[in-house]
Amino acid sequence: MKVVFVCLGNICRSPMGEFIFKKMLEEDGLADKVEVISRGTSDCEAGSPIYPPALRCLKSHGVEGKHTAQKITADDIKSSGYILCMDSGNRFDLSLMAGERADKIHRLCDFTARPRDVADPWYTLDFERAYRDIFDGCRAFLEFLKSENKL
Ligand code: 4NP
Repeated sequence: MKVVFVCLGNICRSPMGEFIFKKMLEEDGLADKVEVISRGTSDCEAGSPIYPPALRCLKSHGVEGKHTAQKITADDIKSSGYILCMDSGNRFDLSLMAGERADKIHRLCDFTARPRDVADPWYTLDFERAYRDIFDGCRAFLEFLKSENKL
């Protein structure tokens, strides 16, 4: 099973999702059950590392990972079982790329009891708030996979 986290630039929110979710899987002994990657809907940051303030935020929560930004490809869409995006703008952009595979697209925090966009830290620099939304979404998504016997 493969899961792709998606945001716009693939330098803040989606790599945060990738690393947070990988850590949750490891803690539950499920790391070998799910392949986790992250991508952007745009290539505006392709080749860049994770944005340093996002990495600092992750490290303050004991989360780490290596990353180089990439735009999502048709093959990523085809090979992933779940495409987890951060906000409704990402969902719209992905729906144009995914065609009949659009049913795989979910807004991450729609798995939570409070469906919402992940707060975008790009202009606010509020990485803590984004971390909380993403953590909440990842936890709820993992519970969903377990409850549906997908693992
Ligand atoms: P991300 O953040 O989509 O969470 O990686 C952004 C990165 C770059 C831009 C916007 C958001 N940008 O406008 O270049």
